[in-house]
Amino acid sequence: MKILANDGISDLGKELLENAGYTVITDKVNQEDLAAFIQTNEVPILLVRSATTARKDLIDQCPSLKLIGRGGVGMDNIDVAYARDKGLKVINTPASSSQSVAELVMGQLFSISRFLNDSFKNISISDFSVLKKNYAKGVELRGKTIGIIGFGRIGQSLASYALGAGMDVIAVDQFTNTIGVLVPIGTNQQVPVAITPTNDLNSVLSKMDYISIHVPKQADGSAVLGAKEFELMKKGVRIVNAARGGVIDEKELINALNSGKVAFAGLDVFENEPNPNTELLNHPKIACTPHIGAATVEAQDRIGSELAELIIKEFGKQN
Ligand SMILES: NC(=O)c1ccc[n+]([C@@H]2O[C@H](COP(=O)([O-])OP(=O)(O)OC[C@H]3O[C@@H](n4cnc5c(N)ncnc54)[C@H](O)[C@@H]3O)[C@@H](O)[C@H]2O)c1
Repeated sequence: MKILANDGISDLGKELLENAGYTVITDKVNQEDLAAFIQTNEVPILLVRSATTARKDLIDQCPSLKLIGRGGVGMDNIDVAYARDKGLKVINTPASSSQSVAELVMGQLFSISRFLNDSFKNISISDFSVLKKNYAKGVELRGKTIGIIGFGRIGQSLASYALGAGMDVIAVDQFTNTIGVLVPIGTNQQVPVAITPTNDLNSVLSKMDYISIHVPKQADGSAVLGAKEFELMKKGVRIVNAARGGVIDEKELINALNSGKVAFAGLDVFENEPNPNTELLNHPKIACTPHIGAATVEAQDRIGSELAELIIKEFGKQN
């Protein structure tokens, strides 16, 4: 059985599938050639990450397809309901990348507190003493409050890192049941910390020194942080978005950075990827990464082996 892993798959995932008798194709096929490739090669299994889309037209054009697998969480690049209506199985690997996204956010938080992104870019081309002066007013994470909006898998994982860094955590979610967050101390000990999310975002926005948002793309496409919410934030807040482009209103973010309301932002995700608004990419108070939240060796191995397991469970061994 052929599997087209169009956005790649880890060596471990590929090996598990090949050992079970599957043929895994990892040559990237351009989006516009994808339907023809799948038809010509009678591919029953398409695996994607965030780059390849599997929309209604592709599903209609590819009767050979039996399963679409998304390595990772967000399935907004797949017409899931339509595919399932057509009898296709659609799977993803929701938990496998939580820790890697949380670690990227910690990296962003440290970076936007100490001008790291700017320093890395400019150290070899600018005057050392000028840069030293420019970066003199860094701030520390320990002792600060981080608001985590969206307290699911990634939000909770981030909370464990933030607590470990000595931050207070305010969690915001539509679900308000108390969560026991485990904070690892070394590799053999864990300290449980109980956190009860609030569902009243507006009442807590002014208490946050940092905000990290971890909600999925909203069903109606609306921004969770827009003009009204920026208004309620503490002056000088620092914000990270490693969830989805559009959950923060990008235009309002630029306005808030330019007015000084927001001190700095870190973005891993953008509207209109892979061609984001260049004003965001070039803004002196935004540190950008190109949607690499899940891009760690460990997460890719977890994703690959989970996909392999799910596929083998569905179609059995082929040898
Ligand atoms: N940057 C990356 O590479 C990367 C990687 C993986 C996931 N993601 C994104 O991160 C998102 C979160 O992933 P997760 O695994 O934590 O999902 P999750 O489903 O476990 O958690 C999302 C949480 O957000 C809450 N929520 C939804 N809308 C809300 C709102 N308007 N206000 C408050 N809370 C709200 C939900 O109740 C849920 O608890 C994904 O949907 C995906 O878009 C990004």
